[in-house]
Formats: sequence, C-alpha cells, structure tokens
Amino acid sequence: MTKPQIWVAAFLAAFILLFMLGRLTKSSAEEEMMPGSNELPQTGMSSGDVSPEQLLGRLGCTNCHGQNLEGTKMGPALVNLNEHWSKNELTNYLRNPSSYMDNERFKVFKEKFPNVIMPAFGNVNVQELGKLAEYLLNR
Ligand code: HEC
Repeated sequence: MTKPQIWVAAFLAAFILLFMLGRLTKSSAEEEMMPGSNELPQTGMSSGDVSPEQLLGRLGCTNCHGQNLEGTKMGPALVNLNEHWSKNELTNYLRNPSSYMDNERFKVFKEKFPNVIMPAFGNVNVQELGKLAEYLLNR
C-alpha cells in the first residue's frame, strides 16, 4: 500500500470503529431505560375494569391466603368473612390491618402466623378495595 492508501484505510477503520461504538452505547442506554418503564405502579391503579379475582392475584393476596383462599402457612383461609366484617370495616382493614390487631381473632392469628404480617394496602384505590371486600364477603 502507498502512504495515501494507508491513511485512507486508517481513516475508514477509525470511522467504522466510532460508528460501532456509537451503536453499542446507544443500545445499552436503551436497555437501561427498559426496567424503568416496567416500574409503573402496579398497585396504585384506578382502572375500574379489574375483576376481584385478578386483584387477588395482582396484589399478592393469593400468595399468602392460597390460590382459592383456602389458607397457607403464610395466612389464614378467607372464609365466612361476612360473620365478622361489614364491607366498610373489611375495606378499612385491608387499608390498615395493624389497627385491628387487638381483636380476639387476631390474637389467634398472631400465634398461628407469628412471622407473617398482613400487609397494608392503603396505596390501592379505595373503590377497588371495596369491590374486593364485597367479593370476599359474598363468596
Ligand atoms: C404476606 C402475606 C399476606 C398477604 C400478601 C396478604 N395477607 Fe391477608 N392476612 C395475612 C395474615 C398472616 C393474616 C392474619 C392476621 C395477621 O396476622 O395479620 C391475614 C388476615 C387477613 C384477613 C382477615 C381474615 C379474617 O378471618 O378476618 C383478610 C380479610 C385478609 N387477610 C385479606 C387479604 C387480602 C384481600 C389480601 C390482598 C389484598 C391479603 N390479605 C394479602 C397474610 C397476608
């Protein structure tokens, strides 16, 4: 190769390298943005078209109370709730379970599930919680 040819080759090589680098950094920047877009709040949603069954799964209720709410090691069966709760009380309970801890039944729960805390769902749309409460009371 003559000297000018080497210069042209070197220039081309550098150009291609820069081009590739640019693409690489761009695609990794795009990847970094993906997890962020998945961080949309899942529980604060207010869409009115979610069924109570879907909510039970989405909010993780079934993880502790069982797929059919039959109870697990992590939480009691959700049965005959209408003997103990009104819709409003149950909705309130879901928003703030710890304020009901002194109740006799809850002392028993505490012994049965000493290491599990029923989470508060105060960040969930109240209407949705109301629907959920109604569903739980009528099943
Ligand atoms: C981390 C596990 C866990 C999750 C998740 C969970 N719970 Fe609970 N839940 C418990 C435990 C444990 C108790 C028993 C009370 C206590 O110890 O706080 C309980 C108690 C309850 C009670 C009272 C039962 C009764 O007989 O009065 C209801 C109702 C209830 N949960 C509904 C729900 C709903 C609805 C969801 C989802 C929105 C949910 N729970 C999510 C663990 C959980």
